[in-house]
Amino acid sequence: MSAAQPEPTAWGAPEHQLAQPGAPGHGVQDRVAPAASALSVSNLVVEYPGRRRGSRVRVIEDVSFELAPGETLALVGESGSGKSTIGNTVLGLVPPAAGSIVLNGRDVSNVPVKRRGSIATQLQAIFQDPYGSLNPSMRVGDILAEPLWASKQATRAEARARVEELLRRVGLPADAAGRYPAAFSGGQRQRLAIARAVSVNPSVVICDEPTSALDVSTQGAVLELLAELQTSLNVAYLFITHDLALVRSFADRVAVLRKGRIVEQGVATEVCDHPKELYTRALMSATPVPDPAIQRQRRASRVAVLAQLRASEGLVAE
Ligand SMILES: Nc1ncnc2c1ncn2[C@@H]1O[C@H](COP(=O)(O)OP(=O)(O)O)[C@@H](O)[C@H]1O
Ligand SMILES: [Mg+2]
Repeated sequence: MSAAQPEPTAWGAPEHQLAQPGAPGHGVQDRVAPAASALSVSNLVVEYPGRRRGSRVRVIEDVSFELAPGETLALVGESGSGKSTIGNTVLGLVPPAAGSIVLNGRDVSNVPVKRRGSIATQLQAIFQDPYGSLNPSMRVGDILAEPLWASKQATRAEARARVEELLRRVGLPADAAGRYPAAFSGGQRQRLAIARAVSVNPSVVICDEPTSALDVSTQGAVLELLAELQTSLNVAYLFITHDLALVRSFADRVAVLRKGRIVEQGVATEVCDHPKELYTRALMSATPVPDPAIQRQRRASRVAVLAQLRASEGLVAE
């Protein structure tokens, strides 16, 4: 087994009884503790199997954040800082070593995606590479209909009937239903992935670098679509990106991740305009700007900030 794959056997922890559909008393619990957050992550720790047999490598350390219904929280940080790991752990694809993940008031921390039952529907995902997540041998109509009937939100006939409306909603022609994913451009495929994600009315969508593989003009259109759907469906986005330029305009709040820890968290415009942490400032100045003079200035300031950061770390290191 490759080290790049999380081991399914790592799911050793007992499942939370509230996560079991039909668990005794879980309806009562829901009334006692109404979910203020669509998603609440507390003190999350994630470890992967290390190179040496039995060893573990900790990649997420004490991460906490809240996602309110209908809001966008951007999770930013350099490549390797742990953004996707957080998304995948929330999705139930990677087991947490510690901490809790509460989705609409239900604790799903130790419930892998395959055992989440109907709760899984409330949480959907869009990834960077829409081609990888769309089965190339299925027609678009079936790709979009499947989650609807599989989640028992519609009969197969009803699901097929809803496909046309879904396609229209994401700006694709009705005849797209009869074609295969290969017939579409990158931007169109991402629209299909979005249509599939929102079709089941999720309350949270994890968007992991959803526009990073697209050219700039397509990026804008896809972001516009996501924003539009958020307004009409009141869906919350955990928006994972390494691109801070997107954060200011697209997110309500932002959490800055560095080496598996959140170093700064706040209102997106505040954090972008007045970053408190050196690391955030360094990330900000890495964002490309169209003006070459400003770009040069930014690059110089980034180098200075990173040097300062390393120096300050040298001071705190033992
Ligand atoms: N399946 C895995 N097994 C072992 N290590 C992993 C796995 N996935 C990611 N990592 C490591 O965890 C760290 C965080 O990775 P990732 O969450 O993909 O970061 P990001 O999405 O911010 O680029 C990196 O050091 C990466 O090498
Ligand atoms: Mg990633």
